[in-house]
Amino acid sequence: MRRKVTVVGSGNVGATVAHRLADKQLADVVMVDILEGVPQGKGLDLFQAGPVEGYDVRIKGTNDYADTSNSDLVVMTAGYPRKPGMSRDDLLKANFEVVKSAMEKAVKYSPDSILIIVTNPLDAMAQAAFRVSGFSKNRVMGMAGILDTARYRTFIAEALNVSVQNVQGFVLGGHGDAMVPVPRYTTVAGIPVSELMPKQQLDQIIERTRNGGAEIVNLLKAGSAYYAPSAAVVEMIDAIFNDRKKILPCAAYLEGEYGINGLFVGVPVKLGARGIEQIIEIELTPEEQAALQKSAAAVRELADIIKV
Ligand code: LAC
Repeated sequence: MRRKVTVVGSGNVGATVAHRLADKQLADVVMVDILEGVPQGKGLDLFQAGPVEGYDVRIKGTNDYADTSNSDLVVMTAGYPRKPGMSRDDLLKANFEVVKSAMEKAVKYSPDSILIIVTNPLDAMAQAAFRVSGFSKNRVMGMAGILDTARYRTFIAEALNVSVQNVQGFVLGGHGDAMVPVPRYTTVAGIPVSELMPKQQLDQIIERTRNGGAEIVNLLKAGSAYYAPSAAVVEMIDAIFNDRKKILPCAAYLEGEYGINGLFVGVPVKLGARGIEQIIEIELTPEEQAALQKSAAAVRELADIIKV
């Protein structure tokens, strides 16, 4: 039997997630939104691409959460997008209300699902979904680390003129300006990146990675990135549905790991059929640890404001 994924939000991120899921034949998709007509129209359009693309998955748009019942996984993309000059944190209160109301309805109809949160500010919204759902911590996660890491890997591959597939690394911390790329663990075909690139150039790449979301918001003027974010979500879903045990940077609920307690922060995790099957703890230098604590403190501040 095919899996079923609910995508909350039929904007650019939600619709592109649905598109990629169909292309990869990973699941039937229900897109749900409060806007009338848009989810239905985009859903029908995607469904009608099936004969050409050769996928048999069913795609449907709706305003009714009853249609989402018994989903294996729910992707939360709905929310207000960033506008130029606006930080992710400005979105906090408005999007908390959106996440709260959507997650209450989604989990009522899909009590056994896994939740992937994409709405910003990412880590605080993942924490909100965790509290609202009452789900166990392995079944609630946020997508940001794969996106931030993808940007980092892209810039390194471009600078060195090598395949993006050769560049491995990860970004730790919250999805915010204090995110923590870890150059010490960044390799190009197994070679430490520091052997291939001067520190100054890597520092510039790290800075560009930190501002990666804002760079695109400033270019688009209306709305934020969606091609790379949707690709990152679908990599997570693929790892879960195919029980790949893939190590990926995701926002996960920490209970003492990295010295952080009771908070969603981006760390490397193992994703498989049960969701987050393990949090991978790696050794950090005192500087890296301090940067991670600083990033976690920024997340904590937001979580405290919305009391989650
Ligand atoms: C980004 C925004 C959406 O990183 O957070 O693209």
